[in-house]
Amino acid sequence: MDIKVKKANPLQQKVPCLVLGVFEGKLKTSLLKELDLALAGALGRAVRDGEFSGKVRETLLFHTGKGFSAERVMLVGLGKEKNAGLEYLRQAAGAMVGALQARRLTVFATDLVQCPLKGTSLAARAQAVSEAVILASYRFDRFRTENTEDLSPALKEVRLLVEKPSLVAEAEQGVQDAHCICRGVVLARNLVNEPGNVKSPEFLAEQARTLAKEVGIEVTVLEKKALVKEGFGGMIGVAQGSERDPRLIVLEYKGGNGEARPIVLVGKGVVFDAGGISLKPAEKMDEMKMDMAGGAAVMGTLLAVAAMKLPVNLVGIVPAVENLPSGTAMRPGDILTSLSGRTIEVLNTDAEGRLILADALTYAKRFDPRVVIDLATLTGACIIALGHHASAVLGNHDGLIRQLIKAGEQSGERLWQLPLWDEYGAQIKSDVADVKNTGGRPAGTITAAAFLQKFAAEFTWAHLDIAGTAWEEKGRPYISKGGTGVGVRLLVQYLRKIAEV
Ligand code: BES
Ligand code: MN
Ligand code: ZN
Repeated sequence: MDIKVKKANPLQQKVPCLVLGVFEGKLKTSLLKELDLALAGALGRAVRDGEFSGKVRETLLFHTGKGFSAERVMLVGLGKEKNAGLEYLRQAAGAMVGALQARRLTVFATDLVQCPLKGTSLAARAQAVSEAVILASYRFDRFRTENTEDLSPALKEVRLLVEKPSLVAEAEQGVQDAHCICRGVVLARNLVNEPGNVKSPEFLAEQARTLAKEVGIEVTVLEKKALVKEGFGGMIGVAQGSERDPRLIVLEYKGGNGEARPIVLVGKGVVFDAGGISLKPAEKMDEMKMDMAGGAAVMGTLLAVAAMKLPVNLVGIVPAVENLPSGTAMRPGDILTSLSGRTIEVLNTDAEGRLILADALTYAKRFDPRVVIDLATLTGACIIALGHHASAVLGNHDGLIRQLIKAGEQSGERLWQLPLWDEYGAQIKSDVADVKNTGGRPAGTITAAAFLQKFAAEFTWAHLDIAGTAWEEKGRPYISKGGTGVGVRLLVQYLRKIAEV
């Protein structure tokens, strides 16, 4: 899709559809008055009859007549001006794409980037609108072979209109950033949506090799033999029930100063989580192909950051395994020796994410990280606590958590902090090993983080539980059903801030 920035008067655009953003109740602007005149009062009548008031995501379409440059005009609601921020802008842009695609319109111009949102730059608005346009038109259709004519057509050309020639370059920068970021989000969504029969640990490794080649970064893949030899007891324990061997995927991007310590991202990469011997119920088990969404976010972030050439040093680590029951699977009661040397009593084989993350966190130490952030679809309890509107954040450093929460607000991928008080540690004490892998029903998200904390004690660390946000069931304005790619936009925002660009 081609997103162009143009200096132009919206009412003089020759285009199949012109889309204008409207704040709630603000229907008397000079532009809308001029439009109403050109439409012979149709806009005023529609507003009078309650068809449109500017509520966020609302749309209204007019066919124009002779003497009007655009063939159609669509109004899209931006919500109340005082509440409006970049997230409303993304939602409005997403709703706009939905309404256009439903009418099979693929070429349009819009003034959305010009809407005066307090405290936002033109570059940020252009990025937000472009992100929403690209992500709203995403779909995973590689397995659709029949009735493809039912699918909405791909957008061809988008013109973002600005008032003055001097504004074009700034808006173009925002568009370019959005293209890089969305490359990462789309990769993450595609990887999550890929079915389990295709998506082996080796498939993820191959995808990592491909992306590394695309943007010129380093990739290392440890295969089973190396993992056994080095003592990745957590990974081997989980993987031993599957015919498909585990992989440890490591991506390295060196955009910063040679000596600068890297940020290390760790992403849970369980390509399918049946629960192992502690088998999950059949209902919705299919969704557990998304249990590598943390790993997908890490791979997507490395792709985006390398494409943007951000001046940071960044390492991505993805432990990739499959959790299945079989005659060779680990059993409840087994004791594993993790890479750290710490022993783990496995009381529930379905609490597998923390076992592989323990090894990956220990492995992170060799990069002498400045900060470690892990992302994981770790606990069903997180969905009970926060539902689908925020990921949980926990960690051992308040400054880092604050920076991440801020990045979440700016990117629209919100985080909510849960406590990690020492008292929770009592729930994961084992009688026979150093630690056990479940802490019972109370505070499941917190006891999972308390488990990880033992393996992250040496560094500044935060954990994001994305169990409730990695998968979308219904579809939202710019988030299609299935994998959401959550984490990529958040982490890029965080990394841009600390790289100060
Ligand atoms: N991958 C699941 C968590 C999950 C559940 C993610 C639903 C997304 C949607 C994880 O491996 C798991 O099974 N966790 C268990 C832990 C329990 C056994 C301590 C859970 O949450 O039930
Ligand atoms: Mn599980
Ligand atoms: Zn899992």
